[in-house]
Amino acid sequence: MIQPLNIFVLTGAGVSAESGLKTFRDADGLWTQNDLAELATPEGFAKNPTRVREFYSARRKILEIAAPNRAHFALARLEKEMTALGGSVFLCTQNVDDLHEKAGHKRAVHMHGELTVTRCTMCSGRWTDRGPLTAAQVCPECGTVGTTRPHVVWFGELPMFMDQIEQALEEADLFVAIGTSGSVYPAAGFVAEARALGISTCEINLSRSDNAHAFDRRLYGPATEKVAQWVGEVLGD
Ligand code: OAD
Repeated sequence: MIQPLNIFVLTGAGVSAESGLKTFRDADGLWTQNDLAELATPEGFAKNPTRVREFYSARRKILEIAAPNRAHFALARLEKEMTALGGSVFLCTQNVDDLHEKAGHKRAVHMHGELTVTRCTMCSGRWTDRGPLTAAQVCPECGTVGTTRPHVVWFGELPMFMDQIEQALEEADLFVAIGTSGSVYPAAGFVAEARALGISTCEINLSRSDNAHAFDRRLYGPATEKVAQWVGEVLGD
């Protein structure tokens, strides 16, 4: 008999690595190869909007051809089956890609925004957009030209959906972090919150993250193997 659990899953770039999307801090990572201050801060955007728009447009192009991997599919299955059992899966992702959705996940909370959404800096209007970000774009809501930016959270900006996330953490029986280095707050602090709430914690990563010590359980290896294995265990395969 499988226990219906409320599971809080936090994902990071490592879950999408085997789909061909670069992580941030590995040797070939986006912030290892590029200057984070130039590309992921409001100041960097103000200084050189063309460079920033080009960077995110290139990431959109790569995302267009990226397919979800076994880890994304396993998590989508976990959501479906745990919900049917009367439990729940709250998927909080730091990723701006849409691979959880492409794998069939019904509800993923994107705390760092979404790459496929464009936002107007004038009126905060936002719309789905898979094409290039350009200075010639017109905001469909307020009609201003040249005010588009990617709907992603930059350093110095507030993560999204924090109230929902805090509530889901409080209601969880189990906290699992997958493919994240544990170096960016507030997400990196969720494991400490989970521990303070007295719930079980598990890390699934290629190798020890920055806060590996804070987890009760640790599974190391590629997400495609370890996440599928862990989901099979939870669902009693
Ligand atoms: P990082 O690049 O910091 O960490 C990725 C983690 O995934 C590392 O610990 C890797 O060891 C692990 N990893 C790599 N390949 C893996 C694989 N195949 N299977 C399992 N694990 C693997 O990425 P994040 O922790 O997601 O924020 O970074 C957090 C935030 O920093 C991002 O959301 C982004 C970035 O700046 C914003 O853009 C606001």
